[in-house]
Amino acid sequence: MSHQKRPTVAVLATGGTIAGEAPVAAQTSGYKAGVISVDRLLSAVPELDSVAAIRSEQIAGIDSKDLDDSLWVTLAHRVNVLLAQDDIDGLVIMHGTDTLEETAYWLHLTVASVKPVVLTAAMRPFTALSSDGSLNLLDAVTLAACPDAVARGVLVAFANRIHGARDITKVSTYAVDAFASPESGVLGWVQDRRIEFQRRVTRAHTIKSVFRLNDIDTQNPLPMVQIVVSHAGAVRVIVDALVDAGVRGIVVAGTGNGSIHSTLQQALVSARARSVAVVRSSRVGSGHVMRNGAAPDDMLGLVSAGTLNPYKARVLLMLALSRGWSEPLILQSLFDQY
Ligand code: SIN
Repeated sequence: MSHQKRPTVAVLATGGTIAGEAPVAAQTSGYKAGVISVDRLLSAVPELDSVAAIRSEQIAGIDSKDLDDSLWVTLAHRVNVLLAQDDIDGLVIMHGTDTLEETAYWLHLTVASVKPVVLTAAMRPFTALSSDGSLNLLDAVTLAACPDAVARGVLVAFANRIHGARDITKVSTYAVDAFASPESGVLGWVQDRRIEFQRRVTRAHTIKSVFRLNDIDTQNPLPMVQIVVSHAGAVRVIVDALVDAGVRGIVVAGTGNGSIHSTLQQALVSARARSVAVVRSSRVGSGHVMRNGAAPDDMLGLVSAGTLNPYKARVLLMLALSRGWSEPLILQSLFDQY
């Protein structure tokens, strides 16, 4: 490919293990995430030069466990600005693995472009023997530069697999192959600069999303939405405290098919009486939560998250509430579409 014809890919760094540094190469835990600069990460992969012209930006340098809503807003604004430029063909975001699935879904709903947006990450720090970051970065840029990746929503390139933002979840605390897309499966594969898609995303995203960032900025923060877990011995005090603190929405990571401990359920019914939106998801990690299945959603004014995990259900609920949509049946129709 001649250099004139190379696509241009913006590469944004936010931190994570992919930018992690440890004192010795044999160390793969207890390192510091998010310290190596985007330009040093890029210069470790000279092969990128034959794939795309790169424009790099350091957005943050954090361990993604510390991500907050305002960084999401900043990131989504920047992604939208860059993708609106005619000379940018696609975009890659280097991210920590811990909250990657949340950021991917946030962008899936707030990016207003069909151009490819690909997140990637690493399980081993940059300094480690056999670090996975550089190859994941090369795969992500290859995918972002690929015309076939257009209009597929936000993607994740990790360990040679292409995952959809809605489906992906982290399934291992340490393994290099740390992600899966339970129930739906991967969208495809990227290996040795070859890309193969096996299916399309069917739910609404990006340009078909009704969620726009216009009304959301740092002066006008996203509504508070928190996640509570149902488990043996659950008590109501967390829900009551959240309601007193002004929470606008609660996602329950329920047991099984979104069932809720009766003590917690009573607290959530009280929260509903104070206009807090309540969404039932599951802590199981795969499968769907059926409306009116393990709890009487119609009667209690609850919403079922379907196949969205609790962390992504929180993203959708925050965006819906930010648009002023809080009625259970309106929320349910959003959870059925996105
Ligand atoms: C992080 O999420 O920033 C640290 C862990 C990782 O990237 O694997």
